[in-house]
Amino acid sequence: MCGIVAYVGDRTAYPILIKGLQRLEYRGYDSAGIALLNGETHVYKCKGKVKDLQALAKDKDISGTVGMGHTRWATHGEPSDRNAHPHQSMNGKFFVVHNGIIENYSHLKKELQNRGYKFASDTDTEVLANLIENIYLEQKVSAELAVRLALTRVVGAYGLVISCEDEPGTLIAARKGSPLVIGIGEHEYFLASDATPIVEYTDKVLYLNDEEVAVITRDSLDLKNLLNDSKTPEIQKITLSIDHIDKGGYEHFMLKEIHEQPLTIQDTFRGRIAMDESKIFLGGILDVMPKLINAKRIIIVACGTSWHAGLVGEYLFEQYARIPVEVEYASEFRYRDPIIYPDDLVIAISQSGETADTLAAIRKVKETQATILGICNVAGSSISRETDAGVYTHAGIEIGVASTKAFTSQITVLTMMALVLGSKRQTLAPELYHHLIHELIQVPKKIEEILKEEEKIKAIAAVYKDVSNALYMGRGLLFPVALEGALKLKEISYIHAEGYPAAEMKHGPIALIDENMPVLALAGNDTSYEKMISNIQEVKARKGKVIAIVSRGDKTIRKMADHVIEIPECHEAVSPLLAVIPLQILSYHIAVMRECNVDQPRNLAKSVTVE
Ligand code: F6R
Repeated sequence: MCGIVAYVGDRTAYPILIKGLQRLEYRGYDSAGIALLNGETHVYKCKGKVKDLQALAKDKDISGTVGMGHTRWATHGEPSDRNAHPHQSMNGKFFVVHNGIIENYSHLKKELQNRGYKFASDTDTEVLANLIENIYLEQKVSAELAVRLALTRVVGAYGLVISCEDEPGTLIAARKGSPLVIGIGEHEYFLASDATPIVEYTDKVLYLNDEEVAVITRDSLDLKNLLNDSKTPEIQKITLSIDHIDKGGYEHFMLKEIHEQPLTIQDTFRGRIAMDESKIFLGGILDVMPKLINAKRIIIVACGTSWHAGLVGEYLFEQYARIPVEVEYASEFRYRDPIIYPDDLVIAISQSGETADTLAAIRKVKETQATILGICNVAGSSISRETDAGVYTHAGIEIGVASTKAFTSQITVLTMMALVLGSKRQTLAPELYHHLIHELIQVPKKIEEILKEEEKIKAIAAVYKDVSNALYMGRGLLFPVALEGALKLKEISYIHAEGYPAAEMKHGPIALIDENMPVLALAGNDTSYEKMISNIQEVKARKGKVIAIVSRGDKTIRKMADHVIEIPECHEAVSPLLAVIPLQILSYHIAVMRECNVDQPRNLAKSVTVE
């Protein structure tokens, strides 16, 4: 949700900022801007993408070795040139790029207006720029103190880079709620919302913590909190490599990420399953294992696709570990007054590890004695740092805004956790434990087989690319997959789609079915199979079009459905990992055929750091 990049050092800042913004464009892409800060400051900003910014800056003065850039996902004020960042304070003293939301901005704005401040944009960020400037000019303090004083008045979330015209070689960075990483080079520093703009220059990074402020020049980094207490920077090494952030010959990141899944799932269980398949070892949760084994209840908090993974987890934990599970939207949970017991286990699932609602939910749980685990993809992210323990998904950086490989990796982790707990709690027979480990190991090979069906799935996409609505139905473990399939379709192709438990269809949604309605039917090969046949018949009786996902060799549904997509036979426990693949491919091709921007769907952003 908005991307920030900044540089101070000896190199020309412009190419570093532009490349960084391109890497961060997945976080927001409705406008972009840069400020080049040496001596005279040049600001270029516009509505549109980074390429529009490049066109704007062409033939302009782009010199300078200090600068900041921003790619925006609009919160306050529509996408427009004047609302694009960086924002400048009224008297031109301060330049600010901001990721987050200043919740009390209207109160602060009125106060500043009463003091004669005029505003050139509709943003909350400009309010902050003017607040800092007002303190700086009236109280005659240093730029850094003005920033800290202003931030003590701010309610909300921020990742910020600020510069003051009077101190041209200095950048001030601050964070609360929205991520900020500082890359440390030789006489140079790189700042960004995540590590992707930094990796090619240095592998030494510092993640800012909430309410920390860093004052950075070419030769120094001074870290403190808002109250001016010095903090010792905890420098970490990042393992992200540059190869992970290009398209690798695919037309879109989403397609690349769909095809990566046989590998990413292997990366998720690599080193965690014994070579002889005898056991699963999850080092990240070892220290809290006694608490997990004795947990009376699991509460899963997450948003979006990660919430769907959580629903799969619910089925797995209840079935194999016999622990009751509640799956909560983090955004609702954080504002309820939930009853949390000391022996509850709370699991936060988040690809980015930065989702504001999920982070707020675990902060609420931190006030209790419950144990909190994280399942995150981004190492060093806020959620991974704020949980008691956790398991990384190791899916590699996910750039397509629509989550694909992160989802299957989350499910892989949840499956391993459920099996470990089932085994330790002796609710899962040893034979079944070993059989399910074997089934999980077979998943990557089976996904490769499904990926070979892409042309066939593309042909089905061509038939349905112009529909306005679609329904997805599944039962048991495939119900969350139906939700996920519908989400994938709506978010990248803008077709209205809903997922339902198949048996719920007759309680309302079946009224929508006519000859124009495609229904994706996810048929498992378990006890629900016969019931799904009845649900498909109900759809066909109303002339709906059925696209069925079935186990290889299925004969019955083939005769009833308009199209079938086969997936290799598997145990139902791992069926979500296979059944979701054709749905991802179908959504992808429909979106491409509708000429939608697959990697950057409208109105969305990859990392939702505002609530
Ligand atoms: C959909 C999608 C979103 C995210 C949601 C949570 O494809 O990606 O629904 O799943 O915004 O994000 P994380 O997992 O980063 O907390």
